Amino acid sequence: MIHNRKIILGIMLAGSIFFLSGGERVIKIDKNYLTFPISHECDRIRITMSVESAEELPVDIRLTAGAAEYKAFKDVSAYKGRYLKITYPDGAKGIDAIKQSDDIPDKDMIYREENRPQYHFTARCGWINDPNGLIYHDGEYHLFYQHNPYEREWGNMHWGHAVSTDLVHWKELAPALYPDKTGTMFSGSAVIDKNNDSGFGEPGKPAMVVAYTVDSPDRQSQCIAYSLDNGRTFTKYSGNPVVDSKDIWNTHDTRDPKLLRYGDRWVMVVNERDGHSIYNSTNLRDWTFKSHITGFWECPELFELPVDGNKENTMWVMYGASGTYMLGDFDGERFSPVSGKHRYVTGSQYAAQTFNNIPDSDGRRIQIGWGRLSHPGMNFNGLMLLPTELTLKTTKDGVRLVSKPIKEIENICKLAGSWTNISQDELAHVLQPYAKSDKLRLRATFKLSHATNAWLSLAGESLMNYDINGNTLNGAFYSPQDPTSMEITADIYLDRTSVEVFIDGGLFSYSMGRKLYDGDAEGFRLGGNRVEVKSLEVFNIPSIW
Ligand code: FRU
Repeated sequence: MIHNRKIILGIMLAGSIFFLSGGERVIKIDKNYLTFPISHECDRIRITMSVESAEELPVDIRLTAGAAEYKAFKDVSAYKGRYLKITYPDGAKGIDAIKQSDDIPDKDMIYREENRPQYHFTARCGWINDPNGLIYHDGEYHLFYQHNPYEREWGNMHWGHAVSTDLVHWKELAPALYPDKTGTMFSGSAVIDKNNDSGFGEPGKPAMVVAYTVDSPDRQSQCIAYSLDNGRTFTKYSGNPVVDSKDIWNTHDTRDPKLLRYGDRWVMVVNERDGHSIYNSTNLRDWTFKSHITGFWECPELFELPVDGNKENTMWVMYGASGTYMLGDFDGERFSPVSGKHRYVTGSQYAAQTFNNIPDSDGRRIQIGWGRLSHPGMNFNGLMLLPTELTLKTTKDGVRLVSKPIKEIENICKLAGSWTNISQDELAHVLQPYAKSDKLRLRATFKLSHATNAWLSLAGESLMNYDINGNTLNGAFYSPQDPTSMEITADIYLDRTSVEVFIDGGLFSYSMGRKLYDGDAEGFRLGGNRVEVKSLEVFNIPSIW
C-alpha cells in the first residue's frame, strides 16, 4: 500500500507522467497511443501494462534508450483520463522513452513505404502469421491474425484485427485479443452463435464467439471469448479453458481450435500431438471428445464442398497447416477419409483458414493463407496471401481441390494489353515496359513442342519452371489434365515482395518472395527451346491502400 501512496504523491508532484524507483512507471493517459522505441540490437525485456484494476498485459519488448529502428504502438484511447502502470525489470532501458501520441508513429508514411505490399494485407507495424477467426458478419469480413504489435519478429501473440467489406480493401483495427496472465493468444476461429446456445448473446445481438489457444510454458489449452460489438472488443469466458487435454495426450502441442456448425451441434477440431481431434458441444462452453485422426500438424480445417458444383454430391475436406488434405465423410463426430493426402499448393503458404458464416446466397468457400514472406528493411513482417475460392473438381486423378483468386480480386485487375501467338523474344519485348511494375498480373498459355521444359523469369528470378520430362512444376510433381498436353497456363500475381502463381485454372498453385526489379537486371525471359506463347494478357492492379 506504500506503493499506492507513492503513486499519489508522484502524481501531485510531477503532473501527468512520472517515475517511481523499483520498476514502475505510471502514466496518466491523455492521448490515443503509447509509442515504444524499438531496436533489434537490444534484448527483449518483459514489461507489464495495467490500467487500474484491469488485467495485466505482459509484453516482451526490445525497448531502446538510444536510436530506435522504428516505433511500435498501442492504442490506449479507451483509457483516457486513467492511470496506466508499467512495471519493468531492474536494469531496463528505454522505459522513459515510451511516449504518448495522438497519432500512430510516422502515420503519413504508413502504406507508402518502399517495400510495402500493394494489394496484400500486411500489418501497419509488427509481425503477423496465421489468419484466425475468419468470419463474415453484418456486412463485414473479419480477418483476425496472429500478431506481435511490438516488433517485426514472432512473439507476444495477440489476435490482430482487420475488416473489409469487399475482401480486397482492409482496415486494420486495434488488436482483438491480448495476452494475459494465463499466456499468449494462439490461433483459432470464430462463429456467430445465432441461437444464443452459449448464452453470451443479447436480444437482437448474437455473439461472435471465438475459440483460441492459450499458450504458456506449462501448457496449451482451448479457450473461448465473445464479442457483442462486431469483434471490436471481446470478453474472455470466466470458465476458461473449455478444453484442457495436455495430460490426456501427454504433449504440450494441443492447439488451434477450428469451430464449425454441424446440424444442431457445435464442432471443434483441435490439433493434438499427432493429428486432429473432434470435440462436440451444444453450448460452445462444454466440450466432449469424439474422435482423433492422425497425420496432421497445426491449424485444422474441416469443411464440406459440392463436387463439380453439385450440392447433392458433397465431400468433406480436412487439412492442417501445410495444406496437404484428405477428402472424406464427416458425421459430426468422426472424419473418415476416402482419399488423400493430396497437395494443391506449395511455397510460402501456411496455416490457411476458410471463412465461416458466408451467406448461403454467396455460398463460396473462401480461404486466406499466411504468406511466410518478409519485406526488406520494413518494420512489419509476413503477409496474407490473396483470398482464393476453394472448389472440388473431378479430375483425371479423382476429385481434387482447386484454388483460384476470388472474383473480387480479378475484378480490380485492369487489362493493359493482350497478345496471341508470339515468340519468346516477343514476349520479353512486349513485357519490358512492365518489368518494373510492383502491381502486375500476367496470364499466359505456353506451348512446348521442341523442348521438354519452359521457364519464365523476371530479373533473373524464376517465376515458373515447368518440366514435362520429370513432370515437375517448380520442383513439385505436376501432370496436366490431358497427360499428353504440351501446354500450360499460368496466372501470375506480382506484388512488391511476393509472387503468387495459379496453374491451369487453380489446379495447382504456389507463392514465393520477390526482389523488386532494380532496372539494371534483365526483364522477363521465357526460356526453353522454341516455346510458343499462345496467349498473353497483362493487367495492372491498383494499390488497395
Ligand atoms: C502455426 C502456429 C500455430 C500457433 C501459432 C502461434 O503457424 O504455430 O500452431 O497457434 O502459429 O503463433
